[in-house]
Amino acid sequence: GAPVEVDISTLKPGEMTTVEWRGKPVWILKRTPEMMASLPKTEDKVADPQSVKPYTMDLPEYCEKQSRSRKEHPEILVTVGICSHLGCSPSSKFQAGAQPSLPDDWQGGFLCPCHGSTFDLAGRVFKNKPAPQNLDVPRHMFLSDTKILIG
Ligand code: FES
Repeated sequence: GAPVEVDISTLKPGEMTTVEWRGKPVWILKRTPEMMASLPKTEDKVADPQSVKPYTMDLPEYCEKQSRSRKEHPEILVTVGICSHLGCSPSSKFQAGAQPSLPDDWQGGFLCPCHGSTFDLAGRVFKNKPAPQNLDVPRHMFLSDTKILIG
């Protein structure tokens, strides 16, 4: 599949957009400082904090392990919105208090509606969930501060 160029100039902090790449939904989430601050708190609650057991693709070597993003734009998460359990799309982002079934210390993240796997704001799956692996992070690069090339 061809690489996809995405303009994120209108994406505001806390917003997410979805693009299609190789027939898959790819989410681009611009994380707020609060969202970034949630990641150290989920570090010991996720099943694979270092992404050593990839789903269908390795975490690109230029991505930080915790934020799973590139150093030059750490707030931008690019991840494939397909659950590593049975392939549903955890298409929603939930903030604290938005979902009564979520734990009290919920820091925000993603929830798969099919069997309840939850992921943090870096797409890392929480422990003891049906999904065995983190969401995939595709290879991507910044063509400018507001343009990303995926693939
Ligand atoms: Fe996502 Fe089963 S497909 S939890």
